[in-house]
Amino acid sequence: MPNVDAGEALGENYRGEGVAGFPEVSEIEVIRHFTRLSTWNYAIDLGNVPAWFLHDEVQPRVNEFVARLDGIATEHPYQPQELSQGCLKNSALLEQCLLEITGMDTITLQPAAGAQGELTGLLLIRAYLQKQGNPRKKVLIPDSAHGTNPATAVIAGYEVENIKSESHGQIDVDKLRELVTPDVAALMITNPSTLGIFEQRIPEIAQILHAKGALLYMDGANMNALAGRRAAGRSRRRRNAFESA
Ligand SMILES: Cc1ncc(COP(=O)(O)O)c(C=O)c1O
Repeated sequence: MPNVDAGEALGENYRGEGVAGFPEVSEIEVIRHFTRLSTWNYAIDLGNVPAWFLHDEVQPRVNEFVARLDGIATEHPYQPQELSQGCLKNSALLEQCLLEITGMDTITLQPAAGAQGELTGLLLIRAYLQKQGNPRKKVLIPDSAHGTNPATAVIAGYEVENIKSESHGQIDVDKLRELVTPDVAALMITNPSTLGIFEQRIPEIAQILHAKGALLYMDGANMNALAGRRAAGRSRRRRNAFESA
């Protein structure tokens, strides 16, 4: 390797004095340091993840593969619409799938994470109630909820009131009936809950809230389980139709 004078090659304006106290280590030492640090992460490949195995933390490898495909990995939010038609088509298809799974009339893909979706939902609830003249004061949250739920309610300007679960880990519906006062804007619910339990009395819960002008918000973090139930129901119906034909 020829001996190069950096000052001469780059010009004095681009020559640094070095960073005081910065360790002078070789390339191989840096590689070994970061490789060793990377093995300190606990991951699904090393063992079981007993909680929060819901979505982002354990994305199937196939999702990573799809995210790296040309045309998806290289998309940029500022590129012109005519170059984004493939991604827009995928988004429209995803919207249709989610509408079918949830039974909702309309959808937004704007929120980029669970907690951001919660905030979007609660701000919609606040705007809806405000339009009726009173945004109300409280949001009810079961004790099995994820920590982002109360944080979101507070950021949306609400007080939080906790509901204890009954002995099977579901929402105590009698307690809910007592707690739904005209001050209550909504109940935030996760189904199946963070305990992994399906709430069995959703229609009754919705009816209690709606009767008092409050709304039911569902945190979609565990919705993969509902998608599975619907898909299972559909394939059972298809199989039954096939067998009876
Ligand atoms: C039930 C529930 N709600 C909300 C969230 C927050 O989602 P995010 O981390 O995507 O903001 C999580 C995250 O684990 C969750 O488990």
